[in-house]
Amino acid sequence: MGRELSGEAFAEERDDLELLSLRPRYLNEYIGQGPLKEELAIYIEAAKLRKEALDHVLLYGPPGLGKTTLALLIANELAVNIHTTSGPAIERPGDLLALLNELEPGDILFIDEIHRLPRVIEEVLYSAMEDYYVDIIIGQGETSQPIHFELPPFTLIGATTRAGSLSQPLRDRFGIVLHMQYYEPEDLKLIIERSARIFAIEIDGEAASEIALRSRGTPRIANRLLRRVRDFAQVKASGHISRALADQALTMLGIDHYGLDHTDRTILQTMYEMYQGGPVGLNALAVNISEDVETVSDMYEPYLIQTGFMKRTQRGRVLTPLAYEHLGIEQNGKS
Ligand SMILES: Nc1ncnc2c1ncn2[C@@H]1O[C@H](COP(=O)(O)OP(=O)(O)OP(=O)(O)O)[C@@H](O)[C@H]1O
Ligand SMILES: [Mg+2]
Repeated sequence: MGRELSGEAFAEERDDLELLSLRPRYLNEYIGQGPLKEELAIYIEAAKLRKEALDHVLLYGPPGLGKTTLALLIANELAVNIHTTSGPAIERPGDLLALLNELEPGDILFIDEIHRLPRVIEEVLYSAMEDYYVDIIIGQGETSQPIHFELPPFTLIGATTRAGSLSQPLRDRFGIVLHMQYYEPEDLKLIIERSARIFAIEIDGEAASEIALRSRGTPRIANRLLRRVRDFAQVKASGHISRALADQALTMLGIDHYGLDHTDRTILQTMYEMYQGGPVGLNALAVNISEDVETVSDMYEPYLIQTGFMKRTQRGRVLTPLAYEHLGIEQNGKS
């Protein structure tokens, strides 16, 4: 493409390309999320039979579970174009209109991080989603004029890590709402084995299980850990990944047997040392560990709750007995 890339930029670009090649392109390659997949397959089939645009889809769940992958896959299954953007990228109604203007009948408009759309844009979307038109005002002051714009039938796919931040009227306009769940270790194992085949990495079944158990239920993390373990294997074991090597590499990366990383453990430790195990509010916790609140609430807290290290109560987050056990602390009378 005639672009010069520095060594580091080149490595990053190659990494991205490598990750892109891992994205399943059709439903039958998409591992896990069983019930969700079955449901989606029916809606896709029905839309194809009726030759209609698929109803609007809202995908929500923690980062790295495959929302973007699913959006691209739906477009492939329907054999339609997909136009992708994200909430923060649409600042003015005109930006949205430019995107809508490109849609052909049946196309998909994918808005990632849809909870970050400005409210004025949300309001323009209501009629676009419901009746396929928009009425907006173009220009300012004396030169401003209203325009009415008809749209072809299209599908809006929104992805969000926090469905709660979406306004109710917007949420209500999605006919299909799919809640992504953390993956079971058996499914992550299959994902790791599939990725290993694509990368031509030699990996034992037990090693894939070990990485799966320590991937926080998240395919993106599973793929990332696989690639880091591969580095170890290439340097220390002529490329072959055994369970022992995976264990050693993951431990060196600071990932423990529950899949908790350094930050997770800092969160638990901070809750214990500064708040006697809680309750503590999310903001205070984030400030104390120098992370932003969104990162803690989207990435760390859901997994710590899911794995039973932390509980949410009305007064804030509290540590569970499992957390004390994991930190190696006697609980002296707390429950
Ligand atoms: N079911 C799956 N089977 C195989 N690989 C998957 C699956 N789901 C996700 N992946 C892989 O995990 C990675 C992350 O997926 P993706 O980017 O779609 O997540 P996301 O939910 O959009 O994350 P974010 O919230 O950060 O945007 C991708 O590289 C993809 O290849
Ligand atoms: Mg995404």
